[in-house]
Amino acid sequence: MSETATKGGAKATNDIKDIKLADEGRRRTEWAERSMPVLRHIRERFARERPLTGKRLAACLHVTTETANLAVTLQAGGADVALCASNPLSTQDDVAAHLVRDHGIKVFAIKGEDHATYYEHIRAALAHRADITMDDGADLVGALHMIALNRLDDLAPPVRKWVETLSAADRKALVAGVIGSTEETTTGVIRLKAMAKDGVLQFPVIAVNDSLTKHLFDNRYGTGQSTLDGIIRATNLLIAGSTVVVAGYGWCGRGFAMRARGAGANVIVTEIDPMKALEAQMDGYRVATMEAAAPVGDLFVTLTGNVEVIRVEHMKAMKDGAVVANSGHFNVEIDLEGLKKVATGPVRVREFVEEFQLAGKKIFVLGDGRLINLAAAEGHPASVMDMSFANQALAAEYVVNNAKKLGKEVSRIPADLDQEIARLKLQSMGVAIDTLTAAQRKYLASWDMGT
Ligand SMILES: NC(=O)c1ccc[n+]([C@@H]2O[C@H](COP(=O)([O-])OP(=O)(O)OC[C@H]3O[C@@H](n4cnc5c(N)ncnc54)[C@H](O)[C@@H]3O)[C@@H](O)[C@H]2O)c1
Repeated sequence: MSETATKGGAKATNDIKDIKLADEGRRRTEWAERSMPVLRHIRERFARERPLTGKRLAACLHVTTETANLAVTLQAGGADVALCASNPLSTQDDVAAHLVRDHGIKVFAIKGEDHATYYEHIRAALAHRADITMDDGADLVGALHMIALNRLDDLAPPVRKWVETLSAADRKALVAGVIGSTEETTTGVIRLKAMAKDGVLQFPVIAVNDSLTKHLFDNRYGTGQSTLDGIIRATNLLIAGSTVVVAGYGWCGRGFAMRARGAGANVIVTEIDPMKALEAQMDGYRVATMEAAAPVGDLFVTLTGNVEVIRVEHMKAMKDGAVVANSGHFNVEIDLEGLKKVATGPVRVREFVEEFQLAGKKIFVLGDGRLINLAAAEGHPASVMDMSFANQALAAEYVVNNAKKLGKEVSRIPADLDQEIARLKLQSMGVAIDTLTAAQRKYLASWDMGT
């Protein structure tokens, strides 16, 4: 039985802002679908083959137009889908309404939901008793593991209270029922690999982020463009001629630095990894410590997946009017708690912009330090999510087909599926590439042919 949310004591199959927004959500989801030909290809095959028939799937993802297209693809494959948000600010309420009204998908997500509601929605997704879970940041899997390890004090209150009502057998079944899980983002994958290393991982996980057709494009070009988009929408600042400090030169940081430079900024990169720092230096950026960059930057953006990258001592040293934002997964990269203790404010000066007074200066924090591309803009463009979500759909199918073979470890989808996604994407773009000739194949496989 698929239990759902309880609202006002009665069971509900959704908790969304307003069903009347569905028309707008449908139009925008269809617009995104135009840029998602690889996912469309998979959806058409899923509709014919129904590889997910009879499977309950709980997804904790940003509820955007692109996710709507993934949810519909999974449903076309036969899955019974429940969806909650992986961030309190990233839900597009019209999309949630469209999924509920036009597809009967169980959606529990409201943009701007408070902490308790966010976890009530996670609870509702857990109560779907999924065979497969899909995460962006490991919130569902994290909760399932706290249940499995009987660490109920580590659960958020709405989840803990519900779990306490379940029998021991029921709790066990909740976790044992999961045949596999998929994870979208770097931060989630890091956590899951840590669980596997500690020997506590309860079921197989497919790290979608580890596919080349995911992180090479989504993290780099998707985050690059949408982070700049979010910052511009939130502030309407001119990027040209400003000094932008980019913390982290991983896939996301590289993409954002590239786009900020393209918009005319002087970019400074901060890093802790000598290889990445060297790469940034050779890519032509200035590399410095955060301490050195703090007094010169106009805009600071963290993309590290780490905690307290921008601290109070840095913010104290910043120029009057400096703007600080985060595009890493969690809102822990900027020490907002520390800032709140020493600064006056916040004062909301426009949507997504909060002013703090510190050391006689004003510092502006965007989107509560949460993923700015999802808080103030629409997340990644559909064309790039096409590949990420093609990976998600194929990973769900892979979990079903290989459930008995997969161990309790973190792995990726096979390289040939990854290659196939790239091939389909190129095909949709009308880009042809060469194929190896017989002589070339022989040469590449040999060690004794001519030099
Ligand atoms: N905004 C989005 O939509 C979006 C999309 C994809 C990933 N993410 C998230 O963005 C974060 C980064 O992802 P990624 O794929 O680029 O990871 P990555 O591992 O490729 O890069 C992270 C980089 O940050 C550096 N770093 C760590 N601590 C640092 C510190 N204190 N100062 C400076 N640099 C530091 C690391 O050395 C590394 O080079 C993760 O939290 C990920 O989940 C966000």
